[in-house]
Amino acid sequence: MEIKKVGVLGCGLMGSGIAQVCAQSGYQVVVSEINDELLNKGLASINSALTKSVEKGKLSQKDKDTVLSRIKGTTNTNDFSDCDLVMEAVIENMELKKKVFAEIDKICPKQAILATHTSCLPIIDMAMVTTRADKVLGLHFFNPVPVMQLMEVVKTIATSDDTLEIGKAFGKSLGKTVVVAQDTPGFIVNRLLMPFLLNAIRMLEAGVATRDDIDTAINLGLNYPMGPLALSDLIGLDTVFFIVNSIYQELKDPQYAPPPLLKKMIAAGWLGRKTGKGFYEYNIGR
Ligand code: CAA
Repeated sequence: MEIKKVGVLGCGLMGSGIAQVCAQSGYQVVVSEINDELLNKGLASINSALTKSVEKGKLSQKDKDTVLSRIKGTTNTNDFSDCDLVMEAVIENMELKKKVFAEIDKICPKQAILATHTSCLPIIDMAMVTTRADKVLGLHFFNPVPVMQLMEVVKTIATSDDTLEIGKAFGKSLGKTVVVAQDTPGFIVNRLLMPFLLNAIRMLEAGVATRDDIDTAINLGLNYPMGPLALSDLIGLDTVFFIVNSIYQELKDPQYAPPPLLKKMIAAGWLGRKTGKGFYEYNIGR
């Protein structure tokens, strides 16, 4: 099946990045939000990312206009009725995800592929509220979506081989390198990443080293682009908390148990870059 038109539900940090990358790869894109305010914010962030590329001489003004002309923003999910692949990137709430899947299953053509961008929730539970569990899979991007090379393609026990191949080919068409994971908590990356982030937070909490020394050690000692505390801020501490809790509930493995410092920071509203304060302080909007 040839994919020409892609639907993206959710135009937040990840949804807007996904919509941008799809449009830059030549797909027609419909991207939705629950209201005009959130939609306009998401579309503005795509516009601003493309403007930066034009300013750096990486994209012509004409190409920017072409990319933008491929993206249609909407608050009406009926606009997904002629999409070949629809990806949900709404918040990580299973009840909401199930509701969204049941709704798009009714709206989309019978042959359309339905994908979730969950980082950690069981995809089979979403697939089973649709009438096409064989056509449901996970497509998991990394933040910042336009920059990060990887896409995890996640197969449930009900995903057909055809659907898996379409998902892999789609990821490659976006210029991503694709890895395949089973529908297990945290897939590959978060299963490995989260204990690392939590151990850095525990290390800070125990006074083993300072914030800057922990991050510098990993940055320069392992050549990681950023240290674990800076990376937690980039991901969002509430998101880290949600992911580790969800993996912990499934596996009951104590390495995923959130440390008290993480909980306290969330209680204080220090969620990382998005709120201007996490382990570091940020100028919001930059
Ligand atoms: N959106 C779009 N582009 C961005 C960006 C953003 N938020 N942040 C940086 N970039 C671009 C810059 O514009 C720049 O592009 P050019 O090369 O075209 O000029 C390029 O990325 C490099 O940026 P900088 O020079 O400003 O800074 P840097 O070299 O330090 O790179 C970084 C920034 C790409 C974020 C890098 O630090 C990095 O790779 N960090 C690790 C990110 C990471 O691990 N992400 C995965 C998180 S886990 C996840 O997403 C999954 C999950 O489920 C939680």
